[in-house]
Amino acid sequence: MDAARSRLWIVGAGGMLGGDLVEEARAAGLSCVTSDREVDITDAARVRAFAEQHRPAWIINAAAYTAVDQAEREPALAMAINGDGPGHLGAAAAAIGAVVVHFSTDYVFDGHGDRPWVEADPTGPLSSYGRSKLAGERRLAEATDRFFIFRISWLYGVRGKNFVKTVVRLLREKPELRIVADQIGSPTWTRPLARQVIGLAGRMADDRGSDGPYGIYHYSDDGYLSWYEFALGIREEALAAGLIEHAPPIVPIATSDYPLPAPRPANSRFCRDKVQRDLGFTIFPWRRNLAEYFAEWRSAGFCT
Ligand SMILES: NC(=O)c1ccc[n+]([C@@H]2O[C@H](COP(=O)([O-])OP(=O)(O)OC[C@H]3O[C@@H](n4cnc5c(N)ncnc54)[C@H](OP(=O)(O)O)[C@@H]3O)[C@@H](O)[C@H]2O)c1
Repeated sequence: MDAARSRLWIVGAGGMLGGDLVEEARAAGLSCVTSDREVDITDAARVRAFAEQHRPAWIINAAAYTAVDQAEREPALAMAINGDGPGHLGAAAAAIGAVVVHFSTDYVFDGHGDRPWVEADPTGPLSSYGRSKLAGERRLAEATDRFFIFRISWLYGVRGKNFVKTVVRLLREKPELRIVADQIGSPTWTRPLARQVIGLAGRMADDRGSDGPYGIYHYSDDGYLSWYEFALGIREEALAAGLIEHAPPIVPIATSDYPLPAPRPANSRFCRDKVQRDLGFTIFPWRRNLAEYFAEWRSAGFCT
């Protein structure tokens, strides 16, 4: 490989997952170029020009429209970013011979039943966000064969807003929390995901062939739990970290008690066998990841 050629282009580098991907790439000694809003992924010509200028071997896309409820009011914008954007990145990748990594979501499923979803299960998004993310999977796959799509759920990390930070804030502000207990899934901590995706890119970075374990993968932390149970774990960690002095009660409620504009899947369980078997990824227990996350968040000064 041309030594001057940047191996990775990390798209959406300013986001929650994107930031960790950049850190992990640098820690692994992989050269990378990064972009965020200034390379608008809805602009096919801009994406293509940037790809041709830097000629990365891998394009790792963490850019997305992630405001799930707002997407009900802005379906066209959500579709442009989450649906068209991955298609543009896929076309640019095909033009320069790059591999694409992209991230999707449990929201592509309708949430029925209680069986963990496998990658081949039929999709059936319930929301504008879910439809836009499914369109992105399809447009990427139409544009190139050399892609990895990681469907992930309940993402949290040190950057930006997420459920963990929201629960800690509410524990500090409210006498009692009410959290839904009838949606079951698994959190995904950005750090081990980012580390393992970068590890994959490092192992395969010089691979220019068309063969490879490309395709869709389900990835999340180990264990199946409700948002309510996740909140109980967060409260324990917040107490241990000294972020709260007392533990306000957390009351389990039904989804119907807390209506939101975008319907959520009730069953977000992922079967994670394929990612372990075919890519050698490790799935870490959600509770252990949460404890390690608090340690990382502490080092970041418990930034909000
Ligand atoms: N968050 C979750 O719970 C969750 C769950 C499952 C899957 N996912 C998926 O995981 C991936 C990473 O999510 P995340 O929560 O880390 O995202 P995030 O924090 O919202 O970051 C997304 C980044 O993309 C940028 N961006 C938005 N529109 C863009 C555009 N048109 N062109 C270029 N950049 C643009 C954003 O910039 P601005 O900040 O300026 O908008 C932001 O820096 C996404 O594919 C998401 O769909 C997330």
